[in-house]
Amino acid sequence: MIAVYGLPPPDLVETPSDAVQTSPLIPGSADLSEMAAGSLDRAVVLAPPGTLERGAVLAQALRALKPGGDIIALAPKDRGGQRLSKELTALGLDVDGSGKRHHRICLAKRPAKLTGIDEAIAAGAPRQIPGLGWTRPGVFSWDRLDPGTAGLIQALPALSGKGADLGCGIGALAQAVLTSPTVADLTLIDIDRRAIDCARRNLTDDRARFEWADARSLALAELDFVVMNPPFHDGGAEDRALGQAFIAAAAKALRKGGECWLVANRHLPYEAALKDHFASTRPVSEGGAFKIYRSVR
Ligand SMILES: C[S@@+](CC[C@H](N)C(=O)[O-])C[C@H]1O[C@@H](n2cnc3c(N)ncnc32)[C@H](O)[C@@H]1O
Repeated sequence: MIAVYGLPPPDLVETPSDAVQTSPLIPGSADLSEMAAGSLDRAVVLAPPGTLERGAVLAQALRALKPGGDIIALAPKDRGGQRLSKELTALGLDVDGSGKRHHRICLAKRPAKLTGIDEAIAAGAPRQIPGLGWTRPGVFSWDRLDPGTAGLIQALPALSGKGADLGCGIGALAQAVLTSPTVADLTLIDIDRRAIDCARRNLTDDRARFEWADARSLALAELDFVVMNPPFHDGGAEDRALGQAFIAAAAKALRKGGECWLVANRHLPYEAALKDHFASTRPVSEGGAFKIYRSVR
């Protein structure tokens, strides 16, 4: 069996059509950490940028590989690629590395004896951080409350009715929303399975429901409110269209008169999209590095 982690550029590495897709960022994917030890003939890994997350993913792939099985790991040079060969060597591998199109590509066979696998897996595992709750390396702002989220939490009034948190992360914003007793139902959506798993552990409130999904394609309707701190990175690069698509999705999910609360970094150009999709928008706070808007459909 062959497993692929993430979406490696097809011009850099071939992934057979029958490979099992594993990724926390592709809804419906298999979970690499749940694959049986020694069950894979080959693993193709687009290694993630965060050091702890990358170490854990490589260790999980090696754990799932048969001794003698092949690992092909690659990463952009400026997002972990430069360290990939050294990191694989530290796990006990004899690595053959090359470079192509700003990526480092490493090939190796899984040796019978691996080094430091359990430690690498533990370093990337979920944990509880006081004041934050369940979290893990790789999810958004994994070891501190994002200052934009903190600002929106402060600005939010007590909301009412049915709502959604688009791109909920580990659920900090949703937790604040659910302190209002008049909130009847809150759907938390994130494309990162690990974030949704943490949110589920952080919010045991019966009014919360969870979706591992792309917020841009979810069929929500007639909501009373949406809250969001939209993503603005896709695959490591800034992508302003992502936040703009979240604004369109929020408007589509709301009833007429429903409200959208959004926080964004100051430099992000969301005003035109808010104007296009909502009847009115007012800035609630524009000081510092963030801006907060309340828009009504
Ligand atoms: C800026 S973070 C905000 C997280 C959380 N709401 C907070 O305030 O801490 C944006 C979140 O959107 C998620 N995300 C990115 N693209 C997404 C998509 N297409 N659909 C759903 N969630 C997405 C990311 O995984 C991330 O958790």
